[in-house]
Amino acid sequence: MDVQAVGLSLLLLHFTSALQTQPWTAQNNTQLPVVIWHGMGDSCCNPLSMGFIKKLVEEKVPGTYVLSLEIGNGITEDVENSFFMNVNDQVELVCNILSKDKMLQNGYNAMGFSQGGQFLRAVAQRCPSPAMKNLISFGGQHQGVYGLPRCPGESSHICNWIRKMLNWGAYSSPIQEHLVQAEYWHDPLNEELYRSKSVFLADINQEKGINGSYKENLMKLNKFVMVKFLKDSMVVPVDSEWFGFYNAGQAKVTYTLQESDLYLEDRLGLKVMDNAKKLEFLTVDGDHLQFSEEWFITNIIPYLK
Ligand SMILES: *[C@@H]1O[C@H](CO)[C@@H](O)[C@H](O)[C@H]1NC(C)=O
Ligand SMILES: *[C@@H]1O[C@H](CO)[C@@H](O)[C@H](O)[C@H]1NC(C)=O
Repeated sequence: MDVQAVGLSLLLLHFTSALQTQPWTAQNNTQLPVVIWHGMGDSCCNPLSMGFIKKLVEEKVPGTYVLSLEIGNGITEDVENSFFMNVNDQVELVCNILSKDKMLQNGYNAMGFSQGGQFLRAVAQRCPSPAMKNLISFGGQHQGVYGLPRCPGESSHICNWIRKMLNWGAYSSPIQEHLVQAEYWHDPLNEELYRSKSVFLADINQEKGINGSYKENLMKLNKFVMVKFLKDSMVVPVDSEWFGFYNAGQAKVTYTLQESDLYLEDRLGLKVMDNAKKLEFLTVDGDHLQFSEEWFITNIIPYLK
């Protein structure tokens, strides 16, 4: 055998023995698992998006169990549901998946991409068990959107249709029940209507009434990291990625999280968390979800270790 062949058989031996060891369980895996929720028009497992992120995490944090959520049965349904499955039902479905997954019972870190960011926040607020430790939101719309200038990928025909529906009547009940993007539609010219009719965002932001457990549960997070994309051409206004939004009555001037009633009244515990340095505000100088592998490794991987 030459040197190369020895190297190869050693490698194979190593590989085979790795395969033969018992699988990791929640008990002996000290590395926290990671749960990923994809964005609109995406799926759990696209090798160019979430599949790539899953692999990157597995490579950079060896031994990590990474669960990229699939909403429904199969990729097609997963993509469709990102437009048409009631978000409250999606959150309930995910809470169920998480509670049944043995690997997650000692807690997990969570990464939400785009709308997956506010959806995972809802999971943290509504489903404290198993415990979410760090929540990382990439371009999430925590105060909703008022505009849908573009959709990612090849979904532009769906996007045009959704835009029509939103303009026609985002707060009408059939649309609220079925159209995901309507459920985080936030019309600053009609704050009252938003508060009373939004079935999802107004609820998790405690606009309809206060659910004490939402605040209590969110405050259990170790870190809540919010990534804002400075050149985002999909999220309007981009301030929403850090909980900012338009001042009521117009769609030009915005307020920051720290200026908001949500913060000043501390309806979600964000002020307490901010003072305790549990909130992290990161920026990327790019368009929606456009970050480099290097940026991810430097800025995000440390939260997963
Ligand atoms: C993890 O623990 C289980 C039982 O608790 C055991 O069967 C398994 O061999 C352990 N795996 C490793 C890699 O240590
Ligand atoms: C508060 O939220 C929890 C979790 O979603 C829910 O089980 C509970 O019924 C809510 N409480 C009220 C008063 O709405």
